[in-house]
Amino acid sequence: MISKIFIALLAIVSAAPFRDSYENGRLEKRLDNGLGKTPALGWNGWNQGQCNAATASTALNTAKAFVSLGLKDLGYLYVNIDDCWASKARDSAGNLVPDPAKWPNGIKAVTDQIHDMGLKMGLYGDAGRETCGGYPGSQGHEVQDGKTLASWGVDYWKYDNCYTGTGFNNAGANTSTYYPTMRDSLLNSGRPIFFSMCQWGRDNVWIWGGSVGNSWRMSDDIQNNWGSVASIAAKAATIAQYAAPGGFNDLDMMQLGNGKLSGNEERAHFGLWAIAKSPIIMGTDMTKLATSTLEIIKNKGILSIHQDPLGKAATTFQPSGAAAPSGSSLYPYWAGPLSDGIVIGLIAVDKAGNYSVNFSDVPGLGNGSFSWAEFYSGKTANGTSASFELGLHDMAVIKVNKSAV
Ligand SMILES: *[C@@H]1O[C@H](CO)[C@@H](O)[C@H](O)[C@H]1NC(C)=O
Ligand SMILES: *[C@@H]1O[C@H](CO)[C@@H](O)[C@H](O)[C@H]1NC(C)=O
Ligand SMILES: *[C@@H]1O[C@H](CO)[C@@H](O)[C@H](O)[C@H]1NC(C)=O
Ligand SMILES: *[C@@H]1O[C@H](CO)[C@@H](O)[C@H](O)[C@H]1NC(C)=O
Ligand SMILES: *[C@@H]1O[C@H](CO)[C@@H](O)[C@H](O)[C@H]1NC(C)=O
Ligand SMILES: *[C@@H]1O[C@H](CO)[C@@H](O)[C@H](O)[C@H]1NC(C)=O
Repeated sequence: MISKIFIALLAIVSAAPFRDSYENGRLEKRLDNGLGKTPALGWNGWNQGQCNAATASTALNTAKAFVSLGLKDLGYLYVNIDDCWASKARDSAGNLVPDPAKWPNGIKAVTDQIHDMGLKMGLYGDAGRETCGGYPGSQGHEVQDGKTLASWGVDYWKYDNCYTGTGFNNAGANTSTYYPTMRDSLLNSGRPIFFSMCQWGRDNVWIWGGSVGNSWRMSDDIQNNWGSVASIAAKAATIAQYAAPGGFNDLDMMQLGNGKLSGNEERAHFGLWAIAKSPIIMGTDMTKLATSTLEIIKNKGILSIHQDPLGKAATTFQPSGAAAPSGSSLYPYWAGPLSDGIVIGLIAVDKAGNYSVNFSDVPGLGNGSFSWAEFYSGKTANGTSASFELGLHDMAVIKVNKSAV
């Protein structure tokens, strides 16, 4: 009898969707649906082709590319469809319906194939009356839509914020009051579904997002230019402490491969998103990747930083003698803890030059000689400092072993 009660209790405890944590000195209930222990890795069609990428054939071609390019084996698992996959009207029972021209065999036939390849499938919805593109929103249909997603085998749900107030993007209320409705629907849907909150960084979402979603956008949409990449990263440095296993700041989808960023800027974009522990969701045609871009996104050292089980995000530190970070412009010096070391990021933010770091300035290190590796150049050494010649907007990503040699 006692053991039965004990087993029943254990079952309740292990099924509990929340767990306590004491981040920032106060007790928070963090969502614990078993997902997003490390930041998500995958692709989303929006930056590639907006509505035109929301088709079965694009999803399947992307999935095949993940396998053939070796990206699946490196952890890129999520194949995520964005807005415009649905028909404009729900069916007579109020269910979402895939657009038959884009999904001739429905969604489930595609998720089944994607699962057979060892990958995961994501879809997109909206907390308001309509999605941003004018397709049915989930407002008032949250429970039904969660069940529909589960029945299709969907693994990831990006949830946008259009038409929740009177117009396109003026949310009607504090988003913290209605995002939990969809969280609860997904938790009760019968399938573990990653909850990707896309409310554009409103209402200090980083403070409460960890109790609602597996990731939360912390800014407006990323644009395809360096200024946008740099300003999002600068803001991320100010909210790094809110990232933890199960819930991460989402710096938005990648612009690598979209023709506007230089090679240096692609390296910095990828390196910053990795050390900030943002989801890395590629946003380009994966069947047409340049070799130079593919080389960046397959960097095993940087992926190991991104997927480090400690799940803490790097932020800026001020070396002695350097100007202080401003918070609104990108700062050259970043560092953060890893389960087995320290990561340092150096970014040539406004000019090419020699960028160096004295390890004694880095939080978590100190006086002494340390062994380190830089992952874009492959350089390794022991020493009290490290120095790199970087072109404009290039980045060095250095992992340092905390034990002095
Ligand atoms: C919205 O609610 C959250 C959680 O209670 C709170 O932290 C935040 O400050 C609110 N935002 C606004 C703009 O009122
Ligand atoms: C970096 O330092 C090296 C070695 O001192 C020097 O040759 C090079 O010109 C420097 N590069 C820049 C961009 O200042
Ligand atoms: C590292 O320390 C040396 C002196 O020990 C100093 O000249 C140099 O500016 C420091 N470099 C950085 C990046 O702080
Ligand atoms: C490193 O050594 C300097 C000079 O001896 C000392 O002032 C500083 O506090 C030391 N830093 C650490 C982190 O031990
Ligand atoms: C760093 O020092 C360690 C311990 O002495 C040594 O095993 C290692 O080979 C050195 N690494 C480099 C890159 O010099
Ligand atoms: C760090 O250095 C220690 C001592 O040399 C070594 O045992 C350990 O394996 C190193 N860790 C990593 C991650 O390289």
